[in-house]
Amino acid sequence: MDFIKLVKPYITFEEMQDDFKEIFESGMFTKGQHVAGLSHEMTAYIGCSSTYLTTSATTALWVCLKLLDIKPGDEVIVSDFSFPASVNVIEDLGAIPVFADVCIETFNMQPNELENKITSKTKAVMFVDALGNPSGITKIAEICKAHHIPLIEDAACAIGSSENGIKCGAIADLTCFSFHPRKIVNTGEGGAIATINDSYVQSLPYLLNHGALGMKGIGLDFVSYGYNFRLSEIQAAMGRKQIVKLPQIIAHRNEIRKEYIQRLSPYGFVAQKFNDNVVSNAQSIVFRVPAKIDRNKLVANLKEKGIETTLGTYCLSACTYYHNKYNNIQPIAHYLENHTITLPCFIGLDVERVCNEIVNSI
Ligand SMILES: Cc1ncc(COP(=O)(O)O)c(C=O)c1O
Repeated sequence: MDFIKLVKPYITFEEMQDDFKEIFESGMFTKGQHVAGLSHEMTAYIGCSSTYLTTSATTALWVCLKLLDIKPGDEVIVSDFSFPASVNVIEDLGAIPVFADVCIETFNMQPNELENKITSKTKAVMFVDALGNPSGITKIAEICKAHHIPLIEDAACAIGSSENGIKCGAIADLTCFSFHPRKIVNTGEGGAIATINDSYVQSLPYLLNHGALGMKGIGLDFVSYGYNFRLSEIQAAMGRKQIVKLPQIIAHRNEIRKEYIQRLSPYGFVAQKFNDNVVSNAQSIVFRVPAKIDRNKLVANLKEKGIETTLGTYCLSACTYYHNKYNNIQPIAHYLENHTITLPCFIGLDVERVCNEIVNSI
């Protein structure tokens, strides 16, 4: 029987070949119509002020912190259940990551945790849409606004998700997306920054492009220092093909999630909760496993049966580096790292086979 992988892309070579041909023939591999087109189409889809494409969510998050002038000694409060990129960018700038524990149901930063951890040194908050779920982001944005603290949303997994009908990218000051192959929009590698704050629109483009803003004589005018974190035309063309399919991709993933819930809840598996006012893109389908079940053994058994699964995501404060340095493990995020499982999700998946193997393995 076929090995069932966690994901398969929602894009094929056949869909891309005309665009690739056009890019190769034009010789326009960077800063062309596809980069401009994808930025524009994302802005319209999200309903934000502007979108800038980047090489990854990691570079996007890093640039946002630079934009906010985060310096050594500043504190940045970060959701503790995430991929380590969320905290690495804070650490890299010499700032102090303050780990905020998460809700055991939604896996997202809890408002009371945030309120308790704000100090005079807090210079930014990084809320993570855990596994694509934005539940609670609006409340977090209200708290940040009341304290005049800028909010970065790590929406690496959350393109197309929304709360109260407002899409991720149009809620926080700055929102970062990933187009890594594990994500539902896959450009090989890649990312984007969406903003609703026009004051950032001035500086983001040149930070991402060597500090250049317009022309000076026959050359570029370098008005600032900057970096090259640009997405290429080939990548942007891939992104464009998938952005238009997002409503169908998201509906499809939520259907699969529903079937998993029907089949697995009788056995005590509890799905990550999406609040009623939320549409999640179901980027990853994650369950808490019943307490009596050894999650690691379950993952190993399923691998033997030809099914790829993995943990939900990581407790940042328990990563060896951060534990050794800050010794401040957050209990709920730690529990979730050890008791959650991510299940396969893609078009054509045999959900019944996955669930039967799970039930046979417990
Ligand atoms: C929450 C979160 N933030 C950031 C990243 C980093 O994304 P990228 O690989 O595009 O740098 C990931 C990747 O999985 C992620 O899940």
